[in-house]
Amino acid sequence: MAVNMHACPLIKLVFFIIMSCSFHNIWSTPTNHRIKMSSSSDHHIVVGCGSACLDYLAAVASYPKPDDKIRSTSFKVQGGGNAGNALTCAARLGLNPRLITKVANDSQGNGILDELHADGVDTSYIVVSEEGNSPFTYIIVDNETRTRTCIHTPGDPPMVPEDLTESNLLSAMSEARLVYFDGRLHETAFVIGEEAKRRGIPIIVDAERKREGLNSLLDLSSYVVCSKSFPQAFTEAPSIASALVSMLLKLPNIKFAIVTLGEEGCIMLERSSTEDLRSKEIEVDELLEKLKQEKDNNATAPTCISSSAFMLRAKGIGTIGGRLLVGTAEKIPSSELVDTTGAGDAFIGAVLYAICTNMRLEKLLPFAAQVAAVGCRALGARSGLPYHDDLRLASFLR
Ligand SMILES: Nc1ncnc2c1ncn2[C@@H]1O[C@H](COP(=O)(O)OP(=O)(O)O)[C@@H](O)[C@H]1O
Ligand SMILES: *[C@@H]1O[C@H](CO)[C@@H](O)[C@H](O)[C@H]1NC(C)=O
Ligand SMILES: *[C@@H]1O[C@H](CO)[C@@H](O)[C@H](O)[C@H]1NC(C)=O
Ligand SMILES: *[C@@H]1O[C@H](CO)[C@@H](O)[C@H](O)[C@H]1NC(C)=O
Repeated sequence: MAVNMHACPLIKLVFFIIMSCSFHNIWSTPTNHRIKMSSSSDHHIVVGCGSACLDYLAAVASYPKPDDKIRSTSFKVQGGGNAGNALTCAARLGLNPRLITKVANDSQGNGILDELHADGVDTSYIVVSEEGNSPFTYIIVDNETRTRTCIHTPGDPPMVPEDLTESNLLSAMSEARLVYFDGRLHETAFVIGEEAKRRGIPIIVDAERKREGLNSLLDLSSYVVCSKSFPQAFTEAPSIASALVSMLLKLPNIKFAIVTLGEEGCIMLERSSTEDLRSKEIEVDELLEKLKQEKDNNATAPTCISSSAFMLRAKGIGTIGGRLLVGTAEKIPSSELVDTTGAGDAFIGAVLYAICTNMRLEKLLPFAAQVAAVGCRALGARSGLPYHDDLRLASFLR
């Protein structure tokens, strides 16, 4: 330890906190553990269904042309897949996630299971096929254009609902607080979704793009996190804000919809009950512009601007009682921005945590943006994902 600890009381204090946290984790007795479980984690079981695969990442100085032979500047072989990543993030933040997916009994499959397990994700409901191949993805991270190009090979044979036995389904759902779908394995997800509905467990869906079976999952859902293009692809509305209004009209069970916009941050529309409403009716695109103008563009840390509840009107679409929130992303210095692979998954992992701990929405958006931004500082979807005691999250978690 090169730091002179006696010279700086602050460093000493921080060091003491870090050391006591890690000693607590290593040496906590079973009794301590049980107290910890019943005070928090018992209520924080999340069941996720979707993709878990292996990522072969290569960072390159500039993207190759066909037939080029180039070298990587760095590489990593690491677990990936939307559900695998989001649940890894959730586990590191302190939830108890259970993943339902399928891998094959090959070296990739074993690696996927070992890595998830080591991160605290319950892998006991994952189906392991004797034959076939586990899903894997080649990812080229280009330092010049700041893009990440993915070539995905799905797992084979694909998961079918019959792969999940009735007893495993019931046991997986036991005491679950929240169910999460990444939109893959939609037939299995639908069976899980119906069981969640019977039990009154809320569902959150990652709507990345239009996929077979996604609409029936959205019908069952309470929350949705969308890619930039999804709301308009789903509704054919002329703007993101009007598309969010249209989504909430089409999907009456949705409590809030978030759309993430990369370094531009995110927008959320929360449905309001009629008794909370200001009587005034207001155009949703105008309200969004007004909120954007209030944004503090000098802040480097993620922020959130929220409106009161109004009757929000989208021209030619309709009106809905709701509140609009605009979240900013962290301004990451370009020297620290390594790889945005999995930023959306990290964001959702943090949203899972925020819902389970009843975090206020004004705090949820900057928290999720902060978790995602921490994850962008390392190669791969998971290497940089923060843990609950990370000092960069301290202002949100204490
Ligand atoms: N370049 C970036 N700088 C800062 N934050 C980012 C950056 N890219 C993504 N994020 C954060 O991650 C969130 C999700 O990113 P996004 O790119 O929209 O998702 P996806 O990974 O699914 O494409 C954003 O809302 C933002 O908070
Ligand atoms: C990435 O690009 C930046 C300039 O944008 C450069 O300074 C840095 O050396 C590059 N890193 C690698 C690994 O190519
Ligand atoms: C996986 O394959 C190994 C041999 O490579 C075998 O010993 C093991 O029983 C197989 N497991 C399953 C679940 O098929
Ligand atoms: C942002 O910074 C500019 C100058 O750097 C300053 O004029 C402006 O008032 C600042 N805005 C806020 C909201 O702090």
